Order: sequence, then structure tokens, then C-alpha cells
Amino acid sequence: MGSEAINRLLVVDDEAAQVEALCRTLEDEGYSVVGFTGAGAALTALSAGSFDIVLTDLTMPGMDGIAFLNAARQIDPELAGIVMTGHGTLATAVEAMKAGALDYILKPFDLRVILRVLARTQAMLRLRRENAALLERLSQRTVELETANRELRVANRELEAFGDSVSHDLRAPLRTIDGLLNVVQEDFGAGVAPEARRHLEAIAAQATRMSELIEDMLRLSRLGREPLQKRPVDMRGLVQEVVGELHAAEAARALDIRIGELPPAQADPSLLRQVWVNLVANALKFTRRREQAVIEIGGAAHAAHKLYSIRDNGAGFDPRRAERLFGIFQRLHAAKEFEGTGVGLSIARRIVERHGGSIWAEGEPDRGAAFHFTLP
Ligand SMILES: Nc1ncnc2c1ncn2[C@@H]1O[C@H](COP(=O)(O)OP(=O)(O)OP(=O)(O)O)[C@@H](O)[C@H]1O
Ligand SMILES: [Mg+2]
Repeated sequence: MGSEAINRLLVVDDEAAQVEALCRTLEDEGYSVVGFTGAGAALTALSAGSFDIVLTDLTMPGMDGIAFLNAARQIDPELAGIVMTGHGTLATAVEAMKAGALDYILKPFDLRVILRVLARTQAMLRLRRENAALLERLSQRTVELETANRELRVANRELEAFGDSVSHDLRAPLRTIDGLLNVVQEDFGAGVAPEARRHLEAIAAQATRMSELIEDMLRLSRLGREPLQKRPVDMRGLVQEVVGELHAAEAARALDIRIGELPPAQADPSLLRQVWVNLVANALKFTRRREQAVIEIGGAAHAAHKLYSIRDNGAGFDPRRAERLFGIFQRLHAAKEFEGTGVGLSIARRIVERHGGSIWAEGEPDRGAAFHFTLP
């Protein structure tokens, strides 16, 4: 579509000589032209064959040019109409344009003018067809997108239901294990050999750990569903609060925490607080081996987004694995070195992305880490 030639003309004029001359001239110019001296025969031809452009005289006996154009466009709405008129009927030509004619040609004919008008009309038709083709493609794409969206929503709901039922079903056997451990301890406690007791304690610890993991999974899955409550957030105030609370828990450590400029944001304050709690807690945790831990927090407002960063001089990590850190239960450090479940960063990513931002990490082994996130 769009590239095919637009050169099939139909000419109607009650003066036979006029029609004949016009047909011959335009055929010489490469158009395919069929001429008629009456509107009736022209309409019959229009219903039978396909034309791109009709040139019609305005004043004809029987059906005039305007009525003819209206009838012609009933047959083929995509037809372009051009009216031909003497100087005396210029006002009627305006009428004809209002009735849907694209252009007009004044009589007596000037070939250059006719060709110019035809070229303009062809260009207009080509644009119309391209436009129609684009609209068609657009509506196809829209339908496809809507279908994909619907499928995604269904998949999402199924996934959530799956997550809910899995964690529900996982909790039940854990409760049974816990209950049975209690029974063993209470009923046979005195008789259990010390080594067996240690094993029982290990089983209990692992069961507790598993229920923590399930809780974390649930927390993450809930995060995707709750609606965001966006409000203006005093980022600096929020970060100072979080740092204060987390620092208080390790008051004995020598910490150098520098909080720079932090542009305010439009975000869900309690979710954003979770992001900072996770990032600051990580910075504190992974600098624990440093004699002098330095943690720098700062930000900047750019045209399209705000950028926030936290940098520490702690254990760092292999930069090739920076992306993995954000996966659930992904940890790069051994649990006996640095405790944790591996959900903090996946929660942070979920929250940042739900706000329309992104989060990423930089690090070097033993040379610290930096985490950056943006908010629109
Ligand atoms: N500041 C940091 N410096 C070095 N490594 C980090 C830092 N922050 C995160 N990591 C690495 O990324 C992993 C994932 O971090 P994440 O916060 O998701 O889990 P976690 O801190 O181990 O456990 P949780 O946050 O669930 O208590 C960490 O185990 C660690 O290997
Ligand atoms: Mg963490």
C-alpha cells in the first residue's frame, strides 16, 4: 500500500469536445483516463471499476457536479474529487470544496495548472493511504499489546496465587516439625543423649530458618501488589532517621557516616524507607571488619530523574556478579562471615522499579561497594 500508482482518472463534463481534449492531453501525460458526458454513465462506471480521482464539471444538466461528487463518494469513499468551473461559478466551487472536493480547476484549462492540481491530489491521496495503513498497523499493535497485557495479568495473578499457596503449604509441615520437636524434648528430654539433642537443636534451627525464608518470600511477593502511596518525601530527613536507628544498634562501632545533599522525591515513604534500611544495613554489615568504616550517602537532581547513592569501604564484591545481588536469596558472602538471607536487595529493586526507577551496584573485592538508584 502507498507505493502503488495513483493515476486512474474519471472525467465528467457535458461538453463532449472538452472531455475528449482533456482525456487525450492527460493520457499523453501518463494518466489512465476515462471520460463521460453525463453523470449517470459515470456513476455506473464508478461502481464497476476503480478510480482514484474524478474531475467533474460543476454545471451539468440533470445531476450537477456537487450531487455527482456526493453520489460518487457514496460508491467509493476514498475517491478524490476535483471540480472544474468557469470564473463565473467560483462561489459554487467553494461550495463543492465544502462538499468534499479536494481541489478545483478554472476553465478555460491551463495544462500546467491541471497537472499541478493533479500532482497535489495524488500526493494527498498517497498520504491518506499511508496514514490509513499506519492507523491499521497501530490498531493491530494495540490489539496485540492488549492481548499480551491481559495474558501477563493472568500469569501474574496465577503466580501470586501460586506463591501464596506454596508458602501456605510450606508452613504447615514446618509447624508439624516444630510441634514434634517440642513433643520429643518434653516427653523424652531427659533421656535424649547429648549428641542426639544437638541434632534436634540443629533441626529446630533449620526449621526456624526455613520459616524466615518463607516469610521473606511472602514479603517480596506482597510488595508487587500493594498500591503505591506516593507523597513528597524529605529524603535527607528519612536517611538521617534510618542511619540514626541502625547506628544506634551498633553504637560501639567507630563509624564515619557522611550524608550529603539528597533531593526530595515523590514516592511511597514507607517503601522508600525499606530501600534505605536495606542499603544502609548492608553498608554497616559489610564494613564490620574495617577499623574505620566510611559510608557516604549522596544524591543529585537531574532533568529527568533523581539519583541517590550510597558508598562504603567494606568487603566489596566481584563486579562481574553485580547483577546477581538483586536476585532473591542471592548472596556473595558466606553466612558465617556475614549473616543474612539475601532478600534485602531484591526488595529494594522491586520497590525502586515499582516507582519507575532503576537500581544497580558497583564493587571491587575488599575495596568497598556502591549502590545507586534513580527515581523519576
Ligand atoms: N554493601 C555491600 N558490600 C558488599 N557486598 C554487598 C553489599 N550489599 C550487598 N552485598 C552482597 O549482596 C548480597 C545480597 O544482599 P542482600 O541485602 O539482598 O542480602 P543480605 O544482606 O545477604 O541478606 P538480608 O538483606 O536478607 O538480610 C549480600 O549477601 C552480599 O554478598
Ligand atoms: Mg541485606
